[in-house]
Amino acid sequence: MITTQKILKVFLLEDNPDDVELELHELRKGGFDVSFEVARNRKEFFEKLSDLDADVILADYVLPDMTGIEAIHICQEKKIDAPIIFITGMGNEQIAVDSLREGAIDYILKKHIVGLSARVSRAIEIWAERKAKEKAETERQKFQQLLFQAQKMESVGRLASGIAHDFNNLLTGILGFSELILEDISKDSPFYERLQTISTLCQRGAALVKQLLIFGRKIPSEFKKIDINTLIEETMGLLYHAVKDGIEIRLNLQDDIPDILADMGQLTQVLINLTLNATDAMDGKGVLEFKTEKYSVARHADKTDRYVCISVSDTGCGIPDNNIQNIFDPFFTTKEVGKGTGLGLTIAYSIVNAHGGWIIVDSKLGRGTTFKIYLPAIQPELADST
Ligand SMILES: Nc1ncnc2c1ncn2[C@@H]1O[C@H](COP(=O)(O)OP(=O)(O)O)[C@@H](O)[C@H]1O
Ligand SMILES: [Mg+2]
Repeated sequence: MITTQKILKVFLLEDNPDDVELELHELRKGGFDVSFEVARNRKEFFEKLSDLDADVILADYVLPDMTGIEAIHICQEKKIDAPIIFITGMGNEQIAVDSLREGAIDYILKKHIVGLSARVSRAIEIWAERKAKEKAETERQKFQQLLFQAQKMESVGRLASGIAHDFNNLLTGILGFSELILEDISKDSPFYERLQTISTLCQRGAALVKQLLIFGRKIPSEFKKIDINTLIEETMGLLYHAVKDGIEIRLNLQDDIPDILADMGQLTQVLINLTLNATDAMDGKGVLEFKTEKYSVARHADKTDRYVCISVSDTGCGIPDNNIQNIFDPFFTTKEVGKGTGLGLTIAYSIVNAHGGWIIVDSKLGRGTTFKIYLPAIQPELADST
């Protein structure tokens, strides 16, 4: 009978060749088909660590120039994805406790080496379970954060649109009356210019209120079929002048991007907001890239959700870790008074959300930032489904 057996990849941190032989012998006896690598000291360990690919690491507790505990710490630091089992000649309970506490999966005395195969199998199982749990936990946290952000946006959005509505009425009143006076007085009047300033300020206020209303989704959307590549090209035509000369604009637009259902004005607003932030971050020099690509999520075996992904990347200053969770918050800005309103990303977030999509950010301090927007593509006709 032919059995196809997976090869067990073992990394041995062991200076004694006899022990290496013994351990490999035990594993083979236990039915494993083994491939292996050995490091006999610290230098060899570091050399082989960079492209280490092992199912399990068997480490001697004491090596000539390093301890097994140190090896564990190094593996953790380098995020080596393999369980570590300590194997040692001399044993006491304290060593066992220490090694498990520091992150070893198991601890075996050389005199009990006969049980090695079973312990290795178990260690690999435990490791896989541990990894799965960690993954589930990070996913849960990520989801929790998204939910929290969405709830926060919802409540602030309602508040903002409530205020914006009343505020808009006040502004309309002030604007109306100042314009009536402007009509009545002569241009030579010392008040003429001041009244004009009042009316300009009111108009700026009204523009801000309009942004708040978009954020609160109080301005009705007009959804149409849109080719996102064309929209980006057209918006760049508009924005060309706002981007400083030292900034190179790159368009990396894939050909076969499906159409989306979107409000053109609102999406343009998102692109403008992201572009302005990117140019602010670059301080006159760098590369601004727009990219489009397809993205799909397999929901079930026979159902795939298709999205369009739009990335806007800059080579600017980046966003510090402790700001990242705030950037979408209303009124969060790191810019000087008068330069930033802290609403650009809030609005981008809320528009993308209203389109059934999501927006994420990836930033490296001093290197640059990429915003990625995912929007649902118009699903192709299910013509040939029977
Ligand atoms: N591309 C970017 N690079 C670096 N920082 C950014 C970028 N985009 C946004 N930010 C940070 O997020 C903050 C909020 O952005 P935004 O909501 O558009 O408000 P504003 O631009 O008015 O400050 C900015 O003040 C800035 O600190
Ligand atoms: Mg902005």
